[in-house]
Amino acid sequence: MAYTIDRFSAEVTAAIAATGRVPVALIETTTPKPNIPADLAFPAFKAAKELGVAAAQLAADLAAAIVPAKDSLIGVVSAAGPFLNFALQPQHLATAVITEIIALGPRYGHQQEGVGKTIVIDYSAPNIAKRMHVGHIRSTIIGQALVNIFRALGYSVVGDNHLGDWGKQFGVVLASIEREGKPQSSGETALEELEAMYARYANEMKDHSALDDRARHWSLALEHGDSEARALWQWAIDLSMDAAQRNYERLGVTIDHAYGESFYEPMLDGVIQEALASGAAYRDEGGAVVVEELDKNIPTFLLQRSDGGTLYMTRDLATIKFRMDAFNPARIVYVIGEPQSLHLRQLFALVRQMGYTGETELVHVSFGTVFDNKGKPLSTRGGNMVYLEALLDDAVQRALAVVEHKNPELPAAEKQAIAEAVGVGAVVYNDLYQDTRRNITLDWERMLATEGNSATYLQYSVARCRSILRRAADTGSAPGNDPQLFRVLEHPAEQQLLKQLARLPEAIREAGARYAPFVVADWCYTTARDFGVFFEQCPVLKAESVTLRDARLALVAATAQALINGLVLLGIRAPERM
Ligand code: ARG
Repeated sequence: MAYTIDRFSAEVTAAIAATGRVPVALIETTTPKPNIPADLAFPAFKAAKELGVAAAQLAADLAAAIVPAKDSLIGVVSAAGPFLNFALQPQHLATAVITEIIALGPRYGHQQEGVGKTIVIDYSAPNIAKRMHVGHIRSTIIGQALVNIFRALGYSVVGDNHLGDWGKQFGVVLASIEREGKPQSSGETALEELEAMYARYANEMKDHSALDDRARHWSLALEHGDSEARALWQWAIDLSMDAAQRNYERLGVTIDHAYGESFYEPMLDGVIQEALASGAAYRDEGGAVVVEELDKNIPTFLLQRSDGGTLYMTRDLATIKFRMDAFNPARIVYVIGEPQSLHLRQLFALVRQMGYTGETELVHVSFGTVFDNKGKPLSTRGGNMVYLEALLDDAVQRALAVVEHKNPELPAAEKQAIAEAVGVGAVVYNDLYQDTRRNITLDWERMLATEGNSATYLQYSVARCRSILRRAADTGSAPGNDPQLFRVLEHPAEQQLLKQLARLPEAIREAGARYAPFVVADWCYTTARDFGVFFEQCPVLKAESVTLRDARLALVAATAQALINGLVLLGIRAPERM
């Protein structure tokens, strides 16, 4: 599928080539600066140099030689110094863009670049028997947006929730449950109780060797597959996943697999043997398996302790081997906070040395820290940590106040539903509106603002489009659907909006190439602003002619559709009205 914007660019290249004056290999086009009244430019320097002519002369000659076909997307062609500028033909632009958005509907923006390629995305990955904290929240939200974006690009995406469900600490978890009994509550409250039980136990264990022995007993029992230990452990997993599931549903998150660290236990011996055999690791006198400085940026690390215990790293090594065998992915993407970047560099260096991954690309999508509105990083120790369920509840509560204020006359149930979409949307957008590597702040005022770069503003824009369409329907009018009709959309504000709508496919491509959901977020924000300008300058229901009204209604419908498509990629719902 070639989108309007791609067809325009292909037509420009073909038009330059057809003059016979520039070899195709030298035709490279760029986006002109915003103050230039053109949509694509061919800077003639390189070609001119190659051909031994002056760039301005070449640009002028080309401008004179190019006569766009009647139905071409190319409008005015002009030379400006060494640049050859191409403007979109306004009528053809309007016809092409609105037609393709209406035809593709929810698939507008989707494309084929990834067909036949698999990407594994490792995200969310909470730890069992604990609440999901801000780090997991960011991973969950960013990871799901990347899943959506890569699926839209045609990749076959495998999401994997690499649960922290294994390791020595589970001995303590089980021993503390044995001692105090299971919490009777559910959701985040139950996990909070488990965390407290764990902390009490771990604390007392320091001075009571009997408690220490008991924890070790449970840890061994679990490792040896003892049925009581397994059952208790499974109970803790179910409890945690139940709590996670409630939040995932609210966030629109669905993760294909949740193998979890425990899944790899049977493979650990094998990968340790392979690491030894490959020469990447050696066993020291104490019996530990050591990977020594693979290069000077990769400090030494362990794959097995001298007591035979394995590590987080060992399980990540087995995970890569398994993913290669099971999915043969072109890429494996890890959505994990910055503090684990050394861990991943070590892991990636090791698997490359061992030859596990061949051509497969390993990518760390890192993200920054979350700060409270006083500028303090959220941390368990700092006592200001925020957990997922509480965060979403808080957001929805605050959103409800906004909705009550803006639209008090709506039925209570609808207000509640809108508040859910607005509150959750605000949290999601806060994670996605800028480069993931940047830190974010929990600043409700900004997050729920109805103007400015917020999910709320974007949701309002969609609701505004829908309200215009509803009012039109009430008076018996509807968006036009005859492509010839759209030619009347020549007002600068209409043209600006049309060009912006045409760019969605490009934005999705760039977001994928840079692992950057914010590119889609930016596209949504600019679109909403362009729509705002259009709405201010171009009356729709009161347009001066029926033709213009119906064409504008079609533009409004196309805007709503494209904006919704962008928001869907980010995981944000747009309520019918607000
Ligand atoms: N459970 C880990 C944590 O909370 C994150 C796991 C990330 N994924 C991975 N393959 N290591 O820190």
